[in-house]
Amino acid sequence: MQQLVRDWLGPLTTLLREAAWSMPLGQGLHLLGVSLLLGAGALLYRRLLRSSHSEPAAAVLERLLPWMWIALGLLAVTGFVLFSAEPARMMRSPVFRTKLALLALVIVLTLLLQRRVRQGRETPEIGNAIAKLAGVSLTLWLAIAASGRLIGYDRRLLDYFFG
Ligand code: HEM
Repeated sequence: MQQLVRDWLGPLTTLLREAAWSMPLGQGLHLLGVSLLLGAGALLYRRLLRSSHSEPAAAVLERLLPWMWIALGLLAVTGFVLFSAEPARMMRSPVFRTKLALLALVIVLTLLLQRRVRQGRETPEIGNAIAKLAGVSLTLWLAIAASGRLIGYDRRLLDYFFG
């Protein structure tokens, strides 16, 4: 599998390593995506966790969720570029794999949240279920951001925890 990825991505990997500007640009845009996603997320989850009641939840969701999907698109493209620069290291990294698994989970939860909020009925039970989903999603986004930052340290983390 690793061999296959390396052969398939080989030319792109070489190109990215040779162009001195490619990594700073990829990382810069990746971090811009993180800021957009967590910025829009903070405002959305604040409403869904009911610490603000300024607007109906569905209106806040329609305004902010598209920005989160746009940010996720940017993160997926730039993340693929960062991955392609060092595919073998990324494939071996347990932190990178955990990040992708958490990402798959939070995407499913976000789609569920979107469906629930769009149903439009704000009974206390539905409000509680939405608040729970929002709390778990926010925690997952933060864990994903932290794991992105920790990918570069996973050897040291493994040594620290498992000797
Ligand atoms: C959509 C798929 C994504 C892929 C394929 C991806 C991939 C990557 C890769 C390969 C790196 C470089 C790690 C290294 O060289 O050590 C990285 C860094 C990072 N990622 Fe992602 N990522 C994705 C989404 C996300 C999301 C959704 C977030 C935040 C919620 C995020 C936050 C970060 C952060 C904070 C870094 C560290 C950047 C730095 O230190 O310069 N990533 N990501």
